[in-house]
Amino acid sequence: MQGERQTILVTGGAGFIGGNFVLDTVGDFEVINLDALTYAGNPDTLASVSESPEHVFVHGRIGDRELVDRLLAEYRPSAVVNFAAETHVDRSIDGPKAFVQTNVVETHELLEAALSYWGALEGEDHDVFRFLHVSTDEVYGTLGPTGYFTEESPFRPNSPYAASKAASDHLVRAYHHTYGLPTLTTNCSNNYGPYHFPEKLIPLMILTALRGEPLPVYGDGQQIRDWLYVKDHCRAVLTVLEAGRPGETYNVGGHNERTNLEVVKTICALLDELAPDSPHAPHESLITFVTDRPGHDRRYAIDAGKIERELGWVPEETLETGLEKTVRWYLENRPWCEAVLSRGYRGERLGIRGGPA
Ligand SMILES: NC(=O)c1ccc[n+]([C@@H]2O[C@H](COP(=O)([O-])OP(=O)(O)OC[C@H]3O[C@@H](n4cnc5c(N)ncnc54)[C@H](O)[C@@H]3O)[C@@H](O)[C@H]2O)c1
Repeated sequence: MQGERQTILVTGGAGFIGGNFVLDTVGDFEVINLDALTYAGNPDTLASVSESPEHVFVHGRIGDRELVDRLLAEYRPSAVVNFAAETHVDRSIDGPKAFVQTNVVETHELLEAALSYWGALEGEDHDVFRFLHVSTDEVYGTLGPTGYFTEESPFRPNSPYAASKAASDHLVRAYHHTYGLPTLTTNCSNNYGPYHFPEKLIPLMILTALRGEPLPVYGDGQQIRDWLYVKDHCRAVLTVLEAGRPGETYNVGGHNERTNLEVVKTICALLDELAPDSPHAPHESLITFVTDRPGHDRRYAIDAGKIERELGWVPEETLETGLEKTVRWYLENRPWCEAVLSRGYRGERLGIRGGPA
């Protein structure tokens, strides 16, 4: 483990945020990238590092104890950074079981493997090891028109996704307090940016608008989210990994609260400007209101003061600058999008089980 370049085990590194994190850190670290390649995992994202000697991709699950033990023993990482999860709220409404399996049962297996590995490390290797768990602000539930989630806010998860992440956060906390495992947890607001699977709001709107199809806005579109550009999130994860205090949690947010409708309208305006040849302009005319998601949280907003005060992290992008980069990225990377869509995802509506008729 000691030496010039540290090795880290990143899980879920073929997904949206994990993929961006791997692309940003290979070179500074040797990255062992363990990913199950579920529908959300995309090896195309990793094309630019596929030949790098500092990136080792391993196809497998975080719950495969034998595999994880072997990777830890072979590569002797100084940290585990856990992005692997089932992540889409709508899918958790249709089928919560996969969320409990990966986000709770398998995250627990990963904690067990890390604890056993860390327990056998000695000296500096033992002192520097960290287990960083990447989580969401959705564990805190929903807010009224005012106030912010802080690290002290009670957990009040409302969707099966949020509940499964809350459970994993509690396990991570318990492994620190009970066994001393040097854990770190980040709870982040909604991310957007390159390599985002097109079932999520922002890429879904960009790609649907470019096809000239109706843009489905849930309910009245007045749900408020605090948006963070994915590269800012990746920098926050790295900052916490390098300087965070074991046992602590850090909220990460962009100070960019917007209603979903405002976000969609901004995307439409950007498409009008950046895709002037599109026959579907003005793209705003494609907006269509559809049945709301059952239990749809009204407002999330993060107080990211702790990570700013203690570790000096602040976001670099506003929603406007980040969205412009994102729209440009999707316009310039159509083959990546086509490849995702060719694997069967067609933007179909999910997550209305048990919801209003
Ligand atoms: N996307 C957001 O806005 C957001 C915000 C805050 C926190 N988070 C958290 O960040 C993490 C990454 O989110 P994302 O948006 O990149 O997710 P994603 O769905 O794009 O990617 C998840 C990745 O994990 C892999 N995976 C799933 N189950 C696995 C298993 N059992 N073993 C190994 N790999 C497995 C998938 O193949 C995929 O590559 C998640 O833990 C999520 O809860 C996401």
